[in-house]
This record gives sequence, C-alpha cells and structure tokens, in this order.
Amino acid sequence: MKKTRICDLLGIEYPILQGGMLWLATAELAAAVSNAGGLGIISPLAGMERYGDSIENLQFQIGKVRDLAKKPFAINIPLDLERSGVFIDVILKEKTGIIVTAAGDPHHYTEVLHKESFKVLHVVSSVKQAKIAESCNVDAVIVEGVEAAGHLGFDELPLFSLLPQVTDAVSIPIVAAGGIVDSRGIVAAFALGAEGVQLGSRFVVVEESIANLRYKQAILEANDTDTVITCRKLLPTRSLKTEFARRLLELEESAASADDFRNFLGYSRVRTGQLEGDLENGEAYCGASAGLIKEILPAATVVQNLIEGYQKVIEKII
Ligand SMILES: Cc1cc2nc3c(=O)[nH]c(=O)nc-3n(C[C@H](O)[C@H](O)[C@H](O)COP(=O)(O)O)c2cc1C
Repeated sequence: MKKTRICDLLGIEYPILQGGMLWLATAELAAAVSNAGGLGIISPLAGMERYGDSIENLQFQIGKVRDLAKKPFAINIPLDLERSGVFIDVILKEKTGIIVTAAGDPHHYTEVLHKESFKVLHVVSSVKQAKIAESCNVDAVIVEGVEAAGHLGFDELPLFSLLPQVTDAVSIPIVAAGGIVDSRGIVAAFALGAEGVQLGSRFVVVEESIANLRYKQAILEANDTDTVITCRKLLPTRSLKTEFARRLLELEESAASADDFRNFLGYSRVRTGQLEGDLENGEAYCGASAGLIKEILPAATVVQNLIEGYQKVIEKII
C-alpha cells in the first residue's frame, strides 16, 4: 500500500487507523492494530467498570498498550468529556506521543501538546472545522462523514462530498473516516485526497474487541438500511436500529428538549449497549456500511485484508 505523509507523521507502516471508541478501544485492540502495522488508538474509559476511576483506567490502559505494542499507538480524547483536561494532563505526563482530539475546540490544547513533542490529529466534520484545525497547527485532520458510527457533525455531510472539499481547503494530511470497511473504501478515500483512513465499526467486530457478543452479532446481521441517526437536537448519533434507537426517535418526535434527552440517556447508556449487550436499554453505535461486515476476525487479519485488497482494487480500475 502507498506510503503517505500519515505514515511518516505517525511512524507507521500502513495509513490505517483504528478509531477511538470510548468504552471499547482497549490496549489489547490497539496493540493488535499497531503490531499489524496500522495505528491502534486507546480510549480513556475502555473496559472500565461502570463507576470506575477513569484516570486510573487511562493510566492502566497506557501501561498495558506499552507492554503489548512495540510500535506507535495513540490516545483519543473527546474534548467534550467532563474530564478531558485531566486526561490530557495524564497523557502529557506519560509522554505517549500521539493524540487524537475530537468533539471540541483544537485551540485549547494543541500548543501545549506540541511543546511536549506530541503529534496532534483532530476530528472534523466540515470544511470550516478543518480550516480552524489547520490554523491551530494540528498535524493532520480526521475528516469524518455522516456514514460514521457514533457522534456526528450537526451538518451531517457525507464523506464523498466533504472529503474533496476539505482536500481543496487545507494542506495538512487528511485521514478519512465514516463507512470505510474494505479496500474499496480506502482507494475511494485516497482518490478524494485522503492519505489515511480510520475505521471504527469494522474494529468493533474483531476477536480482540471487548464489545459484547450480542452487539457484535447485531452488526454482523445488519444490512444497508439498519442504521439510523438519533438525538439530532442534542448530538446527532448513528447507531443500529435497535429498540433503544426507536425509543430515542419517539422522544425526538415528541417535543422533547435537549434536557429531556440528557435525562433519558443518563450515565453510560453506551456501556449498557456496547459492553453489556443490552440493546433495549443501551446505545449500539454503528456505521452505515455495517452490511459489509460479515465475520469476526482477528484485528491483524482485518488490517492484512485491507492491504492485500488495496492493490487488487487499483488493478481493477486502471
Ligand atoms: C463503538 C464506537 C464508539 C466510538 N467512540 C468514539 C469516541 O469516543 N471518540 C471518537 O473520536 N470517535 C468515536 N467513534 C468514531 C470512530 O472513532 C470512527 O471515526 C468511526 O467509527 C468511523 O466510522 P465507521 O464506524 O463507519 O468506520 C466511535 C465509533 C464506534 C463504533
């Protein structure tokens, strides 16, 4: 596969990133992806008990990924988390080297992270956000389209339209995310200007993922029309069309306020769905390309298949 500026920036062999996933992206998963030549990313609450100590958990995950991965890895910090600043303090102390920030303003932390020699990638979902991120000197942007699992930009822009517009607007390297599951998606993203890809849903359904088997199975059974966007008033979110998603949509149709949504969602409905497998009472994030995910594989096999398939797709189109 083509070496890109993303490979040079991050010191990785292949420009394939495993997306941050708040309760799921553990050291074991990240290490499997990093050791396969991509970039594994850990998340602060990964594998944590429901009311565990998130700082201790993050420190534990960092220690573990250092034991397991002999290659670069990153940490994802959504800046809208209450404790994002404290997480960043931990990361600065641990000198972990690469951070992926999301859901917030890159003005806040990029400079201080750069002073400690961190590479900073920031997730964006519009041209405006990408330009702001570039003006803050982030090293690369992750352009996430509306196809992605989990939280989305309010403008709900599809990757196919958004990506080339961001490519024209900024000169820093771009990683594409949202609906990419196989080598065809990588080639398409590269054609539109990306120099790397980030996959989330595909890495939920791998052997090293701690996602509950009921959640994995629901993704395996999903087809093209089985995901839906909920919570448009609070924070648009793509999930499987579960009973829980249906209840959220019902709430949306009633004149519920943002506070009503917050109260309904309560604490860690994500953990309930994704770790405990209770899809009636918890959220089951999933990208729009779920229909392409057909089996539970080791993470390294997923990475290997992406690399091998890439050349075949190129040969097919030239
Ligand atoms: C279960 C799950 C949890 C996620 N949590 C986060 C998160 O905490 N922070 C973040 O930046 N992105 C999060 N994402 C988005 C992914 O990092 C990635 O960008 C996205 O899944 C790409 O779209 P795809 O699922 O279609 O591959 C999550 C995705 C999934 C599937």
